[in-house]
Amino acid sequence: MNLWATKSIATLRAEADQAGEHQLKRALTPLNLITLGIGAIIGAGIFVLTGQAAAQYAGPAVWISMILVGIACAFAGLCYAEMASAVPVAGSAYTYSYATMGELVAWIIGWDLVLEYAAGAATVGVGWSGHFVSLLGNFGLKLPAGLTAAPTTWCTAANVQAAIAGCAHTGLNLTGAIINLPAVFVVAVMSTILVIGIKESAKVNNFIVLLKLTIIFLIVAVGLTHITSANWKPLIPPNTGEWGTYGISGILRGAGLVFFAYIGFDAVSTAAQEARNPQKDMPIGILGSLFVCTLLYVIVSALLTGMVNYKELLALQTSSPPDYAAPMAYAMKHVGAPEWVRISVDVGAVLGLGSVILVMLLGQSRVFYSMSRDGLLGGWAGRVHPKFRTPYLSTIYTGIAVGLATGLLPLQLLGQLVNIGTLLAFVLVCAGVWILRKKRPDLDRPFRTPWVPFVPIAGVVCCLGLMATLPADTWIRLIVWLLIGFTIYFGYSRKHSRLQRELAGGAGGPPPSMGGGGGGGPRGQPPRR
Ligand code: ALA
Repeated sequence: MNLWATKSIATLRAEADQAGEHQLKRALTPLNLITLGIGAIIGAGIFVLTGQAAAQYAGPAVWISMILVGIACAFAGLCYAEMASAVPVAGSAYTYSYATMGELVAWIIGWDLVLEYAAGAATVGVGWSGHFVSLLGNFGLKLPAGLTAAPTTWCTAANVQAAIAGCAHTGLNLTGAIINLPAVFVVAVMSTILVIGIKESAKVNNFIVLLKLTIIFLIVAVGLTHITSANWKPLIPPNTGEWGTYGISGILRGAGLVFFAYIGFDAVSTAAQEARNPQKDMPIGILGSLFVCTLLYVIVSALLTGMVNYKELLALQTSSPPDYAAPMAYAMKHVGAPEWVRISVDVGAVLGLGSVILVMLLGQSRVFYSMSRDGLLGGWAGRVHPKFRTPYLSTIYTGIAVGLATGLLPLQLLGQLVNIGTLLAFVLVCAGVWILRKKRPDLDRPFRTPWVPFVPIAGVVCCLGLMATLPADTWIRLIVWLLIGFTIYFGYSRKHSRLQRELAGGAGGPPPSMGGGGGGGPRGQPPRR
């Protein structure tokens, strides 16, 4: 048993290029891929976290945090672009690791991606519910409180001290609510769209992206005409003596938080098997969406702190939860924008978070699909619907798990896990580019990351640096999550791996439950070791 065995790129490419009823449908154009990226990127990060990062950590310098994260993501994005053009397969970082660092690392990164995509979707589901309830409130509609929150919540000592609702003691508390129904609803709707078809999903996403970009431009227009330049002074408030509370360290800590706003450009790469011309178009989708969003984020975050003083944003923490949870909408109210603008910002947040959930669920189901085709997950995840040509069981089961999590669980526990999990994937993809350049210098790379090894090394260093800004308990939770992953790998996946069976001289064909026909990779191409 060789845990470091890698899958050959030729095999990966041939598997992805096979035609047949068990393959995904190639329907996405370059524009679809860019909008898919923007759909996944612009969401809770810009609508909620930017305000919190300015209030608590960076002050008016939050735009510098945005630039720093944009640079780190540009390094990672350039590496993703090369990998996605060289290995245009649905598994993204999982598959790239399989081709460069071997099966064990691939499994671990596939497992880690659950933190980015499934846990990310569940977390954003809760945010969506909050914005949806607040939007309904604008029209005098109110859902029963017991149906808009999870029955469980996780409280820290600080939460208990601040008398946050539902926090009677530290640890797990019961809130008295039954279920977060709007959160479950949005996950169910997005999962259904994903099952129906990739083209249909792209159409819904395009529509949402158009609307949310319009609303972001509206915020920019209001911001440009309502700046109080005194709010920007001092640009970097002096550090309070505690690391991460203003000063340079505050900018860095703010960067660790707003990283969440950038998550999603990599999700484009999970659609590689559904792109019409993936080798050429993947880099366009990944880098195009990242470029557009970075530009908008820097502008919007600077305008936010120009409209509302960061101290006032901080004071919101102790005010009513709706304002704290929606700083962007609060800014509109603060500068006296007309009511329709405020409502539009709420609509933008609801739509924006909706498309994030859509693309995160898409990413998760495609990663599971790829893992299943390799035998590391059950055959169910590799099944493609004969009519819709989508990985329907993978999508449905992912939707059910994410729906239950978002509706019932104390997601505070996930906290920064989504960030750390994503950063770990970025580190491995950056490292993978360099490794592959060494191992396979001859490989056809329609897109080449410039200045290798500088860019991959800078990507690794920046992402590790951002990981270092995250709290110790997030690291502990990541390690626990990875240990659970190791247990599953050694208990199940290793024994069912197609690659291991091929190495052992077995047939290595698709598991019977995958339907045989389209599942088998080309034979006669020994895996690389
Ligand atoms: N980038 C996504 C968001 O901000 C995950 O919601």
